[in-house]
Amino acid sequence: MACFRTRPAGWFSIILFISLFTLFCHPAGSVKHKDFKTCEQSGFCTRNRRLADSVTAQGDPYLSPYHIDPRTLKVTNGQLEAIVTKTTLTKETFTFPLLISFLDSGVARVTLNEDKRQRGQIDLRHGSTARKERYNGAAAWALTGDGLKTNANIKVATDEQGFSKVAYGPDNRYEATIRHNPFGIEFRKDGQKRVKLNDRGFLNMEHWRPKIEKPQVEGQDAQAPLTSLEEDEGTWWDETFNGNTDSKPRGPESMAMDITLFGYEHVYGLAEHASPLSLKQTRGGEGSYDQPYRMFNSDVFEYDLDSPMTLYGSIPFMQAHQKGCTTGIFWLNGAETWVDVTKSKSTANSLTMGLGGHVDTQTHWMSESGLLDVFVMMASEPADLSRLYGELTGYSQLPQSFAIGYHQSRWNYVSDEDVKDVDRKFDKHDIPYDVIWLDLEWTNGKRWFQWDEHSFPDPISMNKQLDESHRKLVILTDPHIKSEGGYNIDDELKSQNLAVKNKNGNDYDGWCWPGSSHWIDSFSPAARTWWKSLFPYDKFKGTMSNVWLWNDMNEPSVFGGPDMTMPRDNLHHDKWEHRDLHNIYGLTFHNATYHALLERKKGEILRPFVLTRSFYAGSQRLGAMWTGDNLAEWSHLQASIPMTLNQGVSGFPFAGADVGGFFGNPSKELQTRWYQAGAFYPFFRAHAHIDTRRREPYLLGEPYTPIMAQAIKLRYQLLPAWYTAFHEASVDGSPIVRAQYYVHPSDEKGFAVDDQFYVGSTGLLVKPVTAEGSTNVDIYLAPDGENYYDYFDYTIHAGVGKTVQIDAPLEKIPLLMQGGHIIPRKDRPRRSSGLMKWDPYTLIVVLGKDGKAKGSLYVDDGETFDFQQGAFIHRQFVFEPEDGLRSVDLAARKGPKTADYLKVMKDVRVERIIVVNAPGSWEGQQSVRVVEEGAKSGSTNAPLSWHAGGDGKAAWAVIRDPRVGIGRDWRIVFS
Ligand code: GLC
Repeated sequence: MACFRTRPAGWFSIILFISLFTLFCHPAGSVKHKDFKTCEQSGFCTRNRRLADSVTAQGDPYLSPYHIDPRTLKVTNGQLEAIVTKTTLTKETFTFPLLISFLDSGVARVTLNEDKRQRGQIDLRHGSTARKERYNGAAAWALTGDGLKTNANIKVATDEQGFSKVAYGPDNRYEATIRHNPFGIEFRKDGQKRVKLNDRGFLNMEHWRPKIEKPQVEGQDAQAPLTSLEEDEGTWWDETFNGNTDSKPRGPESMAMDITLFGYEHVYGLAEHASPLSLKQTRGGEGSYDQPYRMFNSDVFEYDLDSPMTLYGSIPFMQAHQKGCTTGIFWLNGAETWVDVTKSKSTANSLTMGLGGHVDTQTHWMSESGLLDVFVMMASEPADLSRLYGELTGYSQLPQSFAIGYHQSRWNYVSDEDVKDVDRKFDKHDIPYDVIWLDLEWTNGKRWFQWDEHSFPDPISMNKQLDESHRKLVILTDPHIKSEGGYNIDDELKSQNLAVKNKNGNDYDGWCWPGSSHWIDSFSPAARTWWKSLFPYDKFKGTMSNVWLWNDMNEPSVFGGPDMTMPRDNLHHDKWEHRDLHNIYGLTFHNATYHALLERKKGEILRPFVLTRSFYAGSQRLGAMWTGDNLAEWSHLQASIPMTLNQGVSGFPFAGADVGGFFGNPSKELQTRWYQAGAFYPFFRAHAHIDTRRREPYLLGEPYTPIMAQAIKLRYQLLPAWYTAFHEASVDGSPIVRAQYYVHPSDEKGFAVDDQFYVGSTGLLVKPVTAEGSTNVDIYLAPDGENYYDYFDYTIHAGVGKTVQIDAPLEKIPLLMQGGHIIPRKDRPRRSSGLMKWDPYTLIVVLGKDGKAKGSLYVDDGETFDFQQGAFIHRQFVFEPEDGLRSVDLAARKGPKTADYLKVMKDVRVERIIVVNAPGSWEGQQSVRVVEEGAKSGSTNAPLSWHAGGDGKAAWAVIRDPRVGIGRDWRIVFS
């Protein structure tokens, strides 16, 4: 099938069509580097790197030209205000209002604005009607407000030497030392120096200035090299890339600053990049990149691996971790941002570390425009940092339970009959799945909200068939709207003035799947209200309550546009330039769809499911993401693991990669291994390009199909553990799958490990096989004194801080259980998660070295928001040698719907308990005593069978049908 069905008119369109055809319809290859800027091709990146170089070349001491005028210092209500003045080489001065907010949580927020722009005292070039201020809207999109309360009890002391010291945060254990001249801020917690802003003097707020036309003197070389600190005007004004000229009506306006993280060798975050979890250096140093990490949401299909190139989403949040403490930097800016990372070994700064030597990480953040707005978070452990970041930007949405099942997608299921057929074949082959997806081709010529009536004449009957087994349909809808008179959606968009505008204020016209297109301006409240009006079932025919959405191409992707997106001088709601908010656009469209789906029918309020490709800080509140157009290659399977882990570090953990790889045809072995890995992505979806062969798991045959089915069934068996992990993420920001350093924050040997991970706090440790032909893996086990048990046969491996080899023939997923945990499961996989709703539970109690174990389970209706009114079960299971196994209520908060929910769940029970590493003293014991809260009969007995392990395997015991309710307090006594 051709990639494009509609043929654009006109010569330009034909040429564009041909080049786009070759662009998108080709066998798997590699990214088109020339379509995306390097730092050298980006004026402000080059200028700021250059400034950094000249400052560094000057050596110490360099006097940054920014200082605080102490007379302007003011402290009110947990906030310190001052004016920062910049004095240029020509002795001109420019002023920048500084606001430092000290939050209750111990987080400090530093904001620097620019006086002139803030007051609108600038002239725009080219008759532009854009806003004059530095963009101040990023906070409204990214922050939730929950964590923003300032701490009125801060203590501020300013000394004669020109330093202001602020004690703040819980117990005033946090300290900021603000140096007035040159301006800089050092942060400490418990006396330990952690962070310094403008440590190396790279702070650079490019002030507004009028363009002064300089006459070109004959014979003078326009490209004459600049002297060290002379500013390079070459890219201040218009900037051209790939034939597109950016008019830059506000001239140069970048802002940049360096931030040093003391004692940190490992930094993580800055999603989204296809790079190792522990970020590499970007300027010099062994194995370093030569480009900064770039954040400029782009459609970078067939992306490079091990690269700092930008991808589809941006989260400018970095976690730095060392044994004993974790620090976060959140750079709240929606414009293009580059970050240089370098590491330097210092030998003897015992004041800092109490140690002889350490590595510092130095970072240099550069954004094209906007406010300088940076949050400094000092915590003890990665988990504390996730919570702090979540308090600021929100926790991830608790999805409907179907969303964590298996998703079957491809570009495209070609008709409603095709969908029905695939649905039947999954059942025939006894493979569970929850969601089937329709890509672009469900539409009438890429017109959203209109079905292709030839291929999908009866979508409702298709949806109904799916609904019979509680399955769902997800359909794709992008932010570009086919530009075509008579297409009602485009007509409304235009007539109601809801589209993104070009620099002249007319509806911007660009090229995407439908050909000539307009883009919804989802920054506009009116546009969002309109978008919402399109989704009610009676308006959007062919949809019903099991139909959900996929938002793609929302970087936004514009074929043939600069950096594959829209021009930076385009205008959005309130006349903000696109450059200011580019990285936030994807979030705003995702947000519009999320809210549109909240109430499609009066009274029906289900948790929306919306997948997004583009994202920003805060997108976690709205749904899931995936890592875009990868390749069906082993290297992409490998890369998907650190990428997914990094999403967790970056606060947006509902993530996964296209299982099987998007471009190309995976070998059967690769596809099978990918399913085994994918079964452990938080978002588990198979997807494929339109040019690939069909690859539904039942098509592969022996031995692959049953192995893939096993992997999917393992996912379904563990759904209770997964849902509990999703719940944790939704209340404390913790990643759903967790990296080694995250779970073992004191074990330095694990800090760079990024090819294995834990599922939530279950102690389940998985190491997917990602190499062709491999039949074993080396898995690193932290020196935590625990044993790790093979999930399938209870083989014992000791956690002593080294790698152990595990056999992994094709049918085996290397999966271990760390001693000390209790894992909830459901052992009757059915056709979909919805059909398992009332099934009984199995508890796997993996006793630790001390004979104890703990775990938790969160359950709710998996569909509505009733959990917010107490309709949920949250239990902790505790095993202690003397007490046996207890189920304890963890639901501190009861609500008006608690009692009813418990009633609904009263017959859902635990059907089996398996104790791994069961004590030898149980040998010969036939039963256990079961005491359930409220039971009339006092206590009952349940049969116990004990099995010797041997041959390197742990002993285990099974308690059958203890008849205890999942929502009740109970105790099982073993002696
Ligand atoms: C983009 C998406 C891909 C989708 C395709 C067609 O390339 O990343 O997943 O299949 O568009 O809609």
